[in-house]
Amino acid sequence: MTGSGRRGRRSASTRGGGIPPVGIIGPGRAGLGLALALERAGVRVLGVHGRRRKRVPARIVLSVGGAAPWLEDAGIVFLAVRDELLGACVRELHRSRSVRRGQVVLHLSGAVTAEVLAPLRAAGAAVGSIHPLMTVSADPAHAAAHLRGATFALEGDVRAVRLARAIARRLGGVPIVLTAAVKARYHAGAVFASNYVVALLATAEDLLVGAGIGRRAARAALIPLARASLDNVAAAGPARALTGPIARGDVGTVRRHRRELPADLAALYSVLGRATLRLARTAGLGPGRARALLSALGD
Ligand SMILES: NC(=O)c1ccc[n+]([C@@H]2O[C@H](COP(=O)([O-])OP(=O)(O)OC[C@H]3O[C@@H](n4cnc5c(N)ncnc54)[C@H](OP(=O)(O)O)[C@@H]3O)[C@@H](O)[C@H]2O)c1
Repeated sequence: MTGSGRRGRRSASTRGGGIPPVGIIGPGRAGLGLALALERAGVRVLGVHGRRRKRVPARIVLSVGGAAPWLEDAGIVFLAVRDELLGACVRELHRSRSVRRGQVVLHLSGAVTAEVLAPLRAAGAAVGSIHPLMTVSADPAHAAAHLRGATFALEGDVRAVRLARAIARRLGGVPIVLTAAVKARYHAGAVFASNYVVALLATAEDLLVGAGIGRRAARAALIPLARASLDNVAAAGPARALTGPIARGDVGTVRRHRRELPADLAALYSVLGRATLRLARTAGLGPGRARALLSALGD
């Protein structure tokens, strides 16, 4: 973490546990979800600023084009744009000279570090990142409930992290502080736990549909299975939660599965199978069975 400039006249102070008014740049899933969650938590949200007009929930004040009209009054500015647009957004803010001493600028990316905001330090702002380890998808109205209890990964200047911590707590979340060096690794973990679970469920659904089961029935069948797996991991940890042919050392079944799958899915099955096999070994699967499984998995 690095220190930030001296506090300015209109410092974004957290004294008394207060969170200053916030503004959000980027009216996408995360930006709108955060705006609704903050508002519900009693934080003053000055507005959400975007590049073009779009439908947003009635409680949100959307502005578009040029500089955000609330920039001067915001104690915290959130940048809720896609990771690869952060640099351009920072250049725009820097050029417009609209960031001022005492403000805190936070972006929401899990993988990009606060250093992308470094040019804004020259104006006296403290910079950081606050990544909600939570999925915010189509309906931002669900975000407040989902963010309650979520972990928020924080990183950046001391003053920015202090304020980000207060925000995480206000939203009912659990703040953790990361160094810049580990952010990409942390975020890859988040992708495995969320996005890849979704992709795997979509794959599973397609396989059941291919077996002649209707899509709605396939989804209804798979969701309780997936939920029970999550519950078992939460209760006992991954090694003890593992069931199925690899945990049992059932080589014939693994061969049958791979024969049945198209080449791309057979490859995916094998990659995940090897990770599952490592877990099964820690849960007590013997070395002989493990070798046979490894060969059945095509290695
Ligand atoms: N969604 C999640 O579950 C989630 C969770 C945690 C963290 N995050 C983080 O949140 C950030 C945003 O993700 P997202 O999923 O919300 O993306 P998104 O749905 O694509 O939203 C990004 C929004 O930013 C707008 N935008 C882009 N450049 C802009 C600019 N210069 N000025 C104003 N608005 C601009 C886009 O508008 P246009 O329509 O004009 O392109 C879009 O509305 C990312 O850093 C991501 O890592 C997301």
